[in-house]
Amino acid sequence: MTLYSKIIGTGSYLPPKRVTNIELAAQLAQNGIETSDEWIVSRSGISARHYAEPGVQASDMAVEAAKNALQMAHLTPNDIDLIIVATSTPDYFGSFPSTACVVQRKLGITNGGGAFDVQAVCSGFVYAISIADSMIKAGTHKNVLIVGAEVFSRILNFEDRTTCVLFGDGAGAIVLSASSEPGILATKLHADGSQGDVLCVKGSVSGGVLEGSAFLYMDGQAVFKLAVAVLEKVANEALQIAGMTAAQIDWLIPHQANIRIMRSTVKKLGLPIERMVVTVDEQGNTSAASIPLALDAAVRDGRIKPGHHVMMEGVGGGFTWGAVVARM
Ligand SMILES: CC(C)(COP(=O)(O)OP(=O)(O)OC[C@H]1O[C@@H](n2cnc3c(N)ncnc32)[C@H](O)[C@@H]1OP(=O)(O)O)[C@@H](O)C(=O)NCCC(=O)NCCS
Repeated sequence: MTLYSKIIGTGSYLPPKRVTNIELAAQLAQNGIETSDEWIVSRSGISARHYAEPGVQASDMAVEAAKNALQMAHLTPNDIDLIIVATSTPDYFGSFPSTACVVQRKLGITNGGGAFDVQAVCSGFVYAISIADSMIKAGTHKNVLIVGAEVFSRILNFEDRTTCVLFGDGAGAIVLSASSEPGILATKLHADGSQGDVLCVKGSVSGGVLEGSAFLYMDGQAVFKLAVAVLEKVANEALQIAGMTAAQIDWLIPHQANIRIMRSTVKKLGLPIERMVVTVDEQGNTSAASIPLALDAAVRDGRIKPGHHVMMEGVGGGFTWGAVVARM
């Protein structure tokens, strides 16, 4: 019997603190930084974002999202035999120990299954699905919990208006399980390390001391151009692997970075804009969490139904990008 992997549960979590553009602009103005609701909405489509309270870690939000996904999947934590957490803002410096191990402990999983973090910045969730899909199809794992969880507010420089207005915090999760029915139909991953400087955290630790900066740095225009170019290409590559056309995609779930990049992608694929799931307006860019947050929103509000075909696309630092075609 052919073995497939299928999404059997989704879940998400947003920290309760919601900050509108107007509130953020007022906060930045106290330090002499000028911005406006009009500028942020027109350039990015973002109206608000959520921030985790001090002391709330990526793992805390990941656990909440995971519990929701497990409930939908009708599984208990100990049914999970592998945890993959995609994050650039792990609980511990250098992911040591990994946030996935912290999530395992906080979920009370005692079965000794595997747990590790994936680092592909905003493409992390798509990378994690691709890894889990391969492991399930290889027959080594049965129920994989995949989480994208980020506290980007911790690495934002609130004196840099070109970046701090764009990002937010949150977590999204899926349970990907072995199935006799097709679920994940195609995955395609890419990276171009020569473009690493356009979106990065230019710091490292030596002798226990930070060298450089711990803040996110972004060349916005360079990222914009790269993202627009690669997203259409990788979507078509994934469609070709799945043996499908764009018209067969019911829902496009791009990484929620910027509504202008997202609109350009949906247009290039020739899909009606109504078939794109949008959460960037209310959540900002939550990096590896953005795709599972959007997926869960559309599953829970009934837009995504069993049998629907979903295209998920990530793009981000590294430079990394990738796409997944899934039958729900
Ligand atoms: C960041 C981004 C929104 C900036 O939009 P843009 O149209 O390229 O804007 P520019 O960088 O050219 O800046 C235009 C002006 O707005 C100003 N500006 C930048 N941020 C601002 C802010 N928050 N509020 C008000 N003005 C701002 C700039 O200083 C510049 O002023 P100047 O013309 O006087 O120099 C856009 O480049 C972008 O979306 N890039 C991709 C970002 C992304 O998706 N990243 C994540 C990928 S995973």
